[in-house]
Amino acid sequence: MDHIQFALSTSKEARTMFDDIRVVHQALPGLGVEDIRLQPETGDLRLKSPVFINAMTGGGGSETEKLNAILARVAKETGMAMAVGSQMAALKDPDERNSYEIVRKENPDGILFANLGSEASVQQAKDAVEMIEANALQIHLNVVQELTMPEGDRDFKGALERIRRIADEVQVPVIVKETGFGISRETAEQLAVASIEAIDVSGFGGTNFASIENERRQRKLAYFQDWGIPTAAAIVEVDSVFGKTILASGGIRSALDMVKAFMLGADAVGLAGAFLRIAMEKGEKELVLEINSLHEDLAMMMTALGAASISDLKHCPAVISGELFHYLTVRGFE
Ligand code: FNR
Repeated sequence: MDHIQFALSTSKEARTMFDDIRVVHQALPGLGVEDIRLQPETGDLRLKSPVFINAMTGGGGSETEKLNAILARVAKETGMAMAVGSQMAALKDPDERNSYEIVRKENPDGILFANLGSEASVQQAKDAVEMIEANALQIHLNVVQELTMPEGDRDFKGALERIRRIADEVQVPVIVKETGFGISRETAEQLAVASIEAIDVSGFGGTNFASIENERRQRKLAYFQDWGIPTAAAIVEVDSVFGKTILASGGIRSALDMVKAFMLGADAVGLAGAFLRIAMEKGEKELVLEINSLHEDLAMMMTALGAASISDLKHCPAVISGELFHYLTVRGFE
């Protein structure tokens, strides 16, 4: 509950760098709104919507159970996949399982992602998948969050090896994700040798776990609050070396951000903080309406760009300026 409260109270606009991208309008798009297919090509993840609810809550008793039930019903109603928050608490204490299991109960046929950190063992990964009959497993990387937490981990050796073993042994596709600081080309290169299905870049510009954890400590580690790779840049970093499914998250707020993420190479986008805020402040019905509007807005913009599918958007021209242009040039991306 601390994370939820601080995620809402510390959130402030930071730069994803999507605003350095201008899409190029096509006055002769050659298609109509009814030709648009929103179902993305996401390999074994088989998503129906290009938007999913990213990992947030679990554990922590009846309040998180209620929130997860709301998110699960919204996912069912809108056809979106949904990730649960880290299940480590429930693997250690069976009393914590309800707040995760409710998600499968509310949405028996939906696409669900299990979630654990890279400290997990193969057996824990299998148990987390089984707990919610997950269709895929997210493994999160959260070095900056751990370092900012007074009681957090200080040793990050062996994570890649554990991820490789989990990816080889669990029966469902594995997604490796960051938690708001972004995945670089160098990290994606290391991950590309593991048999994982997808990388979620989860970049800088949205929920900021350095700010959240700093709220809980006396001596603040202020330098981590402006640390990560902005989400737009992180998509290009990962796309340059990773050939499979790319998921984008981190500060995605609008359908226009989504269109830009797809143009840069993402196959689907995840939202955590923005959906959390609507669910907490406006409720379940409003969240469903908001997601229906996002789907509609995506179809509108794809029509104006002449892109019938999410993958067609990758071939649409865009002009990159400002800080994002500088970043990509210095990092050697064309
Ligand atoms: C998160 N996030 C997260 N990620 C993860 O892999 N496991 C987790 O348990 C959690 N927990 C969590 C709690 C809360 C309250 C929030 C807001 C977020 C991170 C999340 O999945 C995502 O990577 C980042 O929040 C960036 O996306 P947004 O929030 O900017 O859309």
